Amino acid sequence: MKERLRVGLIGAGGITRAHIPGYLQCQDRAVVVAIADAREAAAAAARQALGGGTLFSDWRDLLDHGEVDAVDICLPHDLHEPVAVAAAEAGKHILVEKPIARNLREADAMLAAADRADVILMVCHDRRYHPEFARIKTLLEEGVVGRPLCLRLDHNQYIRLQPEHWIFQKERLGGGAVMSCLTHQFDLMRWYGGDVATVGGLSVTMPERMEGEIIGVAPLRFTSGAVGDAVINWHMQSRGLSGGLWYELVWLSGTDGNLHNWNGIHVLRHGDRAERYETVPVEAGTGHSRAIAHFIDCAREGRRPLTDGRAGRAALEIAMAAYRSEQTGRFVDLPLRGDDGQ
Ligand SMILES: NC(=O)c1ccc[n+]([C@@H]2O[C@H](COP(=O)([O-])OP(=O)(O)OC[C@H]3O[C@@H](n4cnc5c(N)ncnc54)[C@H](O)[C@@H]3O)[C@@H](O)[C@H]2O)c1
Repeated sequence: MKERLRVGLIGAGGITRAHIPGYLQCQDRAVVVAIADAREAAAAAARQALGGGTLFSDWRDLLDHGEVDAVDICLPHDLHEPVAVAAAEAGKHILVEKPIARNLREADAMLAAADRADVILMVCHDRRYHPEFARIKTLLEEGVVGRPLCLRLDHNQYIRLQPEHWIFQKERLGGGAVMSCLTHQFDLMRWYGGDVATVGGLSVTMPERMEGEIIGVAPLRFTSGAVGDAVINWHMQSRGLSGGLWYELVWLSGTDGNLHNWNGIHVLRHGDRAERYETVPVEAGTGHSRAIAHFIDCAREGRRPLTDGRAGRAALEIAMAAYRSEQTGRFVDLPLRGDDGQ
């Protein structure tokens, strides 16, 4: 494609603030020509930040009239599947924010629609594009820890939104914190450790704060035999406070060393005797801007994205297995079968 990719932004709420710089940095090869949001003020604010774009209040009108090659879906989770399927049927390439959908039935409908229309479906698992998480991947590939044995990933946040926000509604979110944000860690787990074989799940709810779980713990076993756990805590006011705990921690140990990313990446190589952690420099940059650039390049060149729809489905499947485990009180083997995950 020689011309710039024409993008329609669908949903112009909170996360759009992270997407817009990505488009502004790629103006040589992409332009946001249309913005749809049910809230006029949100769409207008996005247009101002982007420097243009036709506004729509209904996403269907954007698909019908907004001469776009691709859409970027930044909507509540219950809208991911209907909007993505309609976009595919209209022949548009699709970037959808995580999680791909609320369950595997919806995810499969999106994958099938994208396959039928031969359009690209990418899930915005932005951590894979973030310089720090991406550097950890290259360190693993360089073999600094040897064969991974134990992978521990943490995600701590405190969600401050109006009580009526969709994020606190189990039906619209598709669950709670595990569905919404631990899918980032599940995606990284698979990237770092390979396929997951078995999943457990435990959670805590605080009905006065949200309908779905506010804390979730998912122990895992990989097909390689390595083990790990992913933990999300949405009731942790620590981010940005001096002396406080981490926001997102990766802590990996392997046959030949270990590494963690608390205040930078630190690697300990085991020789006869481990002596000191090396600090590994990391480039500046955000995951979202790089994810947007990757989507634009894949759509223009017909390439498969790193975090394609199937990768998004695989991260979702781990979340569904964690929920199933909590319901049954047993570990759950992947792939999910029958109605599990539907
Ligand atoms: N990758 C990340 O780190 C990250 C962080 C936050 C959110 N997200 C994801 O981004 C997506 C959006 O989350 P958000 O935090 O921006 O939510 P938000 O509530 O801030 O924004 C959603 C927007 O969608 C609009 N909207 C809702 N229904 C609509 C409809 N029927 N038609 C048109 N517009 C409609 C709302 O008016 C709102 O402006 C979710 O998938 C969420 O999980 C990702």
